[in-house]
Amino acid sequence: MRKKLGAFREDTLYQGDALALLPKIPEGSIDLIVTDPPFAIDFRAQRLNYNRKGSNVIEGYREIPEEEYGEFTRAWMVEAARVLAPTGSMYLFSGWNRLRDILEGIDAAGLTTINHLIWKYQFGVFTKKKYVTSHYHILFVVKDPKQYTFNKMDHYPEDVWVINREYWKGRKKTPTKLPPELVRKILMYSSNPDDLVLDPFLGSGTVAVVAQQEGRHFLGFEIVPDYLAFANECLQKR
Ligand SMILES: C[S@@+](CC[C@H](N)C(=O)[O-])C[C@H]1O[C@@H](n2cnc3c(N)ncnc32)[C@H](O)[C@@H]1O
Repeated sequence: MRKKLGAFREDTLYQGDALALLPKIPEGSIDLIVTDPPFAIDFRAQRLNYNRKGSNVIEGYREIPEEEYGEFTRAWMVEAARVLAPTGSMYLFSGWNRLRDILEGIDAAGLTTINHLIWKYQFGVFTKKKYVTSHYHILFVVKDPKQYTFNKMDHYPEDVWVINREYWKGRKKTPTKLPPELVRKILMYSSNPDDLVLDPFLGSGTVAVVAQQEGRHFLGFEIVPDYLAFANECLQKR
């Protein structure tokens, strides 16, 4: 039987601030959280790094001021830990620049790190006096290291994943879309059909779309109304 979700319905996306919405999710009701939280950098200045061309990018991406990032991270992660089922796990994405806050948030939330994965992607941004950033950190954390879902699908599942970002030529997009292949790998390893998957920072809703495709239930939040509308459009296109 499905768990009660309080004010929410499963397989639905909600517009709003994750910090206000997460506390409304009943304790222990989520099987897996997959999320790429907002950054604490001047994202507009960085936009070309992600898309080469900004013209089809939906405006409004919401960042967190640098000085508030640590507190913001701890606040949402404590709530994330509360809503996870006893066997639940979370995959969270982080660039290298705010990794310290993310690791401190994991400790503050009392979660245990199982793996520190590296996602290697192509970037192709020319740099003059530094190396080109072409990786992301993915922290795989659990509530209880003695009981969590891990569907071992490969004989030797390595912790460096090489998966390219998509170039959405000429199509509408949000600035930081994750490749569906990457999200699918996470869902197949760390959830089972009918599990409930949460992304509190949806962006274009890749986590919800792949969850739906793979027979998982989903719940998601996004603060920017245009992004939420786009995520719902992507869900309906399946
Ligand atoms: C890095 S993006 C997520 C990208 C997403 N994984 C995808 O594949 O499109 C982070 C998202 O969090 C949203 N956001 C920022 N602050 C938020 C908040 N307090 N509550 C909910 N969403 C927020 C941003 O608008 C942005 O769309």
